[in-house]
Amino acid sequence: MLSVQNNSMIISVANQKGGVAKSTTAINLSAGLALEGYKVLLIDTDPQANSSRVFIHPEVEVSLEKSLYNVIVNFTPLASVIRKTDFPNLQIVPAHIRLSSIDLELAQAFDNRSERLKRALEKVKDQFDYIIIDTPPSLGILTINAFVASDKLLVPVSTGFFALTGIVQLKETIDMIRQTQLNPELDIIGVLCTFSDHTNVSKDVEKQLRDYFGDQVFKITIPKNVSLEEAHSNYTTIFGHSPTSAGATAYRELVKEVLAR
Ligand SMILES: Nc1ncnc2c1ncn2[C@@H]1O[C@H](COP(=O)(O)OP(=O)(O)OP(=O)(O)O)[C@@H](O)[C@H]1O
Ligand SMILES: [Mg+2]
Repeated sequence: MLSVQNNSMIISVANQKGGVAKSTTAINLSAGLALEGYKVLLIDTDPQANSSRVFIHPEVEVSLEKSLYNVIVNFTPLASVIRKTDFPNLQIVPAHIRLSSIDLELAQAFDNRSERLKRALEKVKDQFDYIIIDTPPSLGILTINAFVASDKLLVPVSTGFFALTGIVQLKETIDMIRQTQLNPELDIIGVLCTFSDHTNVSKDVEKQLRDYFGDQVFKITIPKNVSLEEAHSNYTTIFGHSPTSAGATAYRELVKEVLAR
């Protein structure tokens, strides 16, 4: 329960497939860990800025200067873009839409462009127990930076049709990051079944995932639950919006499983 100095864990929530609940998971895992008393930093690397927006009041504009963009492109210290949220123990680093052109902007930058987030984190990581990184639905420079900076990957997979497309590519990317020595220790902390319902497709996909990934799949599956979507549009987490909902119960279980791994 108490903060463990010098023992922080950095977890990227990643799957290059879009709309599989990466942001929803990053937001609610961060919030759930913070509720347990851990000091948490949520870093939004997605130009869509979905997870940043939940924690920043709608009328507040995030400037380029005070966003992750400035850290990755101009080597601004990460500490200068960290913001408090309304939730105790939870701070965030916001994304900026300009991150969408970063692959082009850094195309000519050969000096450790995959390690910029990792380096930026070195100076602040000891202040946090958990650093959760939300990633975009692509395998570009931002996702690579997240993978290089992370100890673990948490991979949400939506249990709908086409769920498994992209998993092989994701595994290849993880292998590439390991083999090129960018991050030889990178490992999957768990695969999370999301959007589960009682249809045969959902049950089938979950079974295939459990056959393929074995114990790496979290025991808890996240059900389809409209409260999770409502929470985002109310600029809060599932615990703030509907603490007794099926979504809140499931994400609370996920927090326990992450803490146990
Ligand atoms: N379990 C759920 N039940 C119902 N709706 C959900 C659930 N999880 C996420 N959603 C909704 O589904 C949409 C996609 O979720 P989310 O934005 O978390 O996915 P993502 O993987 O981050 O997407 P992207 O790839 O675009 O970043 C959002 O509108 C979100 O509110
Ligand atoms: Mg997202």
